[in-house]
Amino acid sequence: MRRCRPEEIALKSFFLGPQSENAEWLQKVINDILSDWFTWRQRIYPRDGFAISKSDQEVKDYVECRKTFEDNVKRLSKWLENEVPQFSPRYMGHMFSEISLPALLGHIVTLLHNPNNISSEASRVGVRIENEAISSLAKMAGYDPSARGHFTSGGTIANFEALIRAKTRLEKWQQSALSESKKLTLFEASHSGWQKQLSSFEKRWTNAYDFTRSLEEFFNIKYRGPVLLVSSNRHYSWDKGLSLMGLGEESLWPVELNRFGRMSLQDLEKKIERAHQEQRPILMVCSILGATERGSIDDIHFISDALEKWARRGIHIWHHVDAAYGGFLRTLAQNSDSLAPDRLKAIESLPRANSLTLDPHKLGYVPYSCGAFLTKNEIEYASIQVQAPYIDFRPENDRGPQTLEGSRPASGAAATWMAAQCMGFDADGYGQIISRTLRATTRLEELLKQTDSKIKVLPHRDANILCFCIARDGETISKSNLQTMEVFRRFSPDQNSQFIVSKTSLRWNIYREYLDHWTSEWHAKVDCEELKIIRLCMMNPFYDSREMKIDFSAEFAKQLLSLIKDQAVVEKCSQACLRLAHLKSERG
Ligand SMILES: Cc1ncc(COP(=O)(O)O)c(C=O)c1O
Repeated sequence: MRRCRPEEIALKSFFLGPQSENAEWLQKVINDILSDWFTWRQRIYPRDGFAISKSDQEVKDYVECRKTFEDNVKRLSKWLENEVPQFSPRYMGHMFSEISLPALLGHIVTLLHNPNNISSEASRVGVRIENEAISSLAKMAGYDPSARGHFTSGGTIANFEALIRAKTRLEKWQQSALSESKKLTLFEASHSGWQKQLSSFEKRWTNAYDFTRSLEEFFNIKYRGPVLLVSSNRHYSWDKGLSLMGLGEESLWPVELNRFGRMSLQDLEKKIERAHQEQRPILMVCSILGATERGSIDDIHFISDALEKWARRGIHIWHHVDAAYGGFLRTLAQNSDSLAPDRLKAIESLPRANSLTLDPHKLGYVPYSCGAFLTKNEIEYASIQVQAPYIDFRPENDRGPQTLEGSRPASGAAATWMAAQCMGFDADGYGQIISRTLRATTRLEELLKQTDSKIKVLPHRDANILCFCIARDGETISKSNLQTMEVFRRFSPDQNSQFIVSKTSLRWNIYREYLDHWTSEWHAKVDCEELKIIRLCMMNPFYDSREMKIDFSAEFAKQLLSLIKDQAVVEKCSQACLRLAHLKSERG
């Protein structure tokens, strides 16, 4: 039998395995956890006596209640057996996969104690675990371990945390310009830096409308508010965030994508200049490490260079990196051959950003819900200052006054802490697991390219998200879309299929340069606004496990080939295409 290398075998202890191979060991550990939980309760106030006696437990009503309870647990458990089998390498859909055992156990142990990390009054241990877990994430990201941050329910809230802080900083700087004798423009005032300003967030304007009027009077302009500059292929949480802050759609200035499908540096510079000319302060520039659709990695190094150039001119612009998906790619070795050297350079520049979103519940293999928000500097972390008479907030530990969320679990922090302790957020730990997924992605990519010329693999893949569409050379995009959607239907979670994929559509108004370049290579006839693609998030650590009976990549390629060769499918798509053409001609 083919065997994996010893260091790879060690990694196998971190997962249950596609066939529950580590079940016996896990069962024992979970039993031990439960025993510890029981004895902890018994030990802490031992003289209090029992509330539930043996005879209580024999009363008919009690027994019936318990029976109902057991039946419902079984029902729930059975019901969940219909859940999407994300643990299997056959699942290649969205940004989730198998979870790691250290993270799962950290989550379970902490759930049993149920701490609320709103304050150390409510969570004596949980807040300390959160401090340590945030330090591990900070170190992974390249920040000083003293960087500030907290766990959130996910990337969406972490992005909101960045928005509110960037907005507060901007307003703070504007506010201090109002009391300065030196006359700056509104744009200059909004980006003027901390050094000569009030050094904290403690004073705030109480009414946004009054504040706007003061700015308008002082700067003698009509103030339309700040703008957010973010890659056009942003996650939709950014639109939600701006709406939540009452800034509206107009204040989101999407930065165009270049021919590689990454943020265009040229367009970024152009938009900064335009904001400068129009006196629209820049709330933040947000670049993306691992974009939702294709996993693309923006040129964080060049974007940082550009913003640092502005900073030397006295214009300090907040740079946030939405690394919800790709943050853990920073565990790869600096000379790793699993990523292109220029993408490694981009990732290396992560610590140059003011703040980061990281999602341990994506490439961190941690159970939901677990996101994290980090700032490089303490001063930029503390944005909201509130008090609650019924909570004893301790400034050195407690994040309650500063987090958007109120009650927060410690389970995500503990799961991340366990993952950091047991697996390590470095090249020997997570780096190895993620390298495996990247190698598996490259292999499947090669295989798909060789399988059939109709399988068109999207170029310039940056991470472990592989995309393709089904198209013949010279064919219309609408025909290609029909075929691709048929493939999605066959490999969708609703079909209980042998493999599960996800899909998306790339719109020409967002990906123009990228799509024009690529589709012209196969002489596509562009007759619609979007290209449908199949999207494979290749996160599972077991794609290329040598001991398994199945070669997942080869099997997927084989099934895909038989589907696209299936005459019935080809016929169905051609007919749908004819109907579409007919409808179009009827409409003139
Ligand atoms: C780049 C990016 N940012 C933010 C998010 C939002 O994360 P969540 O779903 O955890 O709120 C996602 C989710 O896929 C994402 O891909």
